[in-house]
Amino acid sequence: MQFTYSNPTQIHFGQGQIAAIADVIPAQSKVLVIYGGGSIKKNGVYDQVTDALKNHTWLDFAGVEPNPTKETLDKAVAIAKQEQIDFILAVGGGSVIDGSKYVAAAAKYDGDGWDILTGKYTIESALPIGAILTLPATGSESNPAAVITKAETQDKLPFMHPSVRPVFAVLDPDAMKTLPERQLVNGIADAWVHTCEQYITRPTNAAVQDGYAETLLRNLKTLGEQFAVRDNDAWRANLMWSANQALSGLIGQGVPQDWATHMIGHELTALWHVDHARSLTIIQPSLLRNQIDYKRAKLEQMGRNVFGFANSDDLAERTIDAIEAFYKQLGLETKLTEHTGNKETAINAVIDQLTKHGLTSLGENQSITLEKSREILENAIG
Ligand code: NZQ
Ligand code: ZN
Repeated sequence: MQFTYSNPTQIHFGQGQIAAIADVIPAQSKVLVIYGGGSIKKNGVYDQVTDALKNHTWLDFAGVEPNPTKETLDKAVAIAKQEQIDFILAVGGGSVIDGSKYVAAAAKYDGDGWDILTGKYTIESALPIGAILTLPATGSESNPAAVITKAETQDKLPFMHPSVRPVFAVLDPDAMKTLPERQLVNGIADAWVHTCEQYITRPTNAAVQDGYAETLLRNLKTLGEQFAVRDNDAWRANLMWSANQALSGLIGQGVPQDWATHMIGHELTALWHVDHARSLTIIQPSLLRNQIDYKRAKLEQMGRNVFGFANSDDLAERTIDAIEAFYKQLGLETKLTEHTGNKETAINAVIDQLTKHGLTSLGENQSITLEKSREILENAIG
């Protein structure tokens, strides 16, 4: 185990915390408030932001779409440059926060922002970002990652840089009250898979990381089981904090990580607009079965410590079945049925995208070759 770790995002957690931004955004800053399709105007979040910014100079940019596109975000980049913005405030879910990270970095670059995603340009600096989270799922509010889509070419690619990690994040569980059931379920699933990507690999005796990952998985499982009686402060707060902790960086320190489910899932979203979380629940059970020989020991550990199963020869298999049943219980698809063309053309389309993006040896062992991805897709696509 060897790592250097710092997560400097200051978290303001709890009801009423949006007001805190009045003091944490430097008074002289010119702020660009970035948000999505308007949900924040219906749940009072926008009004609270407006109120907190009454002594600041600020502009706003609306319309960042789910799975944010470069095409939309470049309009915000132009505003940031033209208006000499010096602070970005992202108000929304993962898409708005990721999109704001792109804007913050691209605003400091003269070329095409997409160069950040292709690696042609390496970020040197970015505008500081603050995040007000309205949808717990991605962990983007306190991590250095973003995933951006180029609609023109159906490319959905990630980038990471320490300079785009938000300087602060407000996590007020009341902001979740207007979330549609579909998005709440997505949040549980995304946070669950984030934990799995950093846990279901191979045993390394990292007791703290494993133990905390198991705590998060048990929490998320319980929150899923309580879904019918979710309308209470504790349920919302526990989901918001669990999802944050699942991808704040902590549980992934010094341990192998997988992320193949995410990489293949991103292609389903880019091609057919599958919700991010649902792309994961479609791919992951098939991927775990395909890679079971590598992952058997950790699946058995998860079976015992998360699902409370007794030892048996088929414990790893039963654990994957239990994961799949958990998704189904939440109404999440575990097979892709809505795609273009027949099954074979759909699989070929994903394989072509993986090839184009150089994603030809995925997973903690680089064992998911294109051939393995094809096998995984054979079972994941209906
Ligand atoms: O746009 P608005 O009107 O705000 O509506 C959004 C959107 O339609 C709505 N919503 C958000 N908060 C709401 C609300 N509706 C009512 N009440 C509220 N309080 O929810 C819809 C989905 O929002 P979105 O931000 O797209 O969802 P999510 O947070 O799941 O983010 C998904 C994006 O994050 C990326 C995904 O690839 C995807 O593009 N990811 C980012 C990661 C990261 N930065 O670390 C990691 C993840 O694995 C993921 O890849
Ligand atoms: Zn995710």
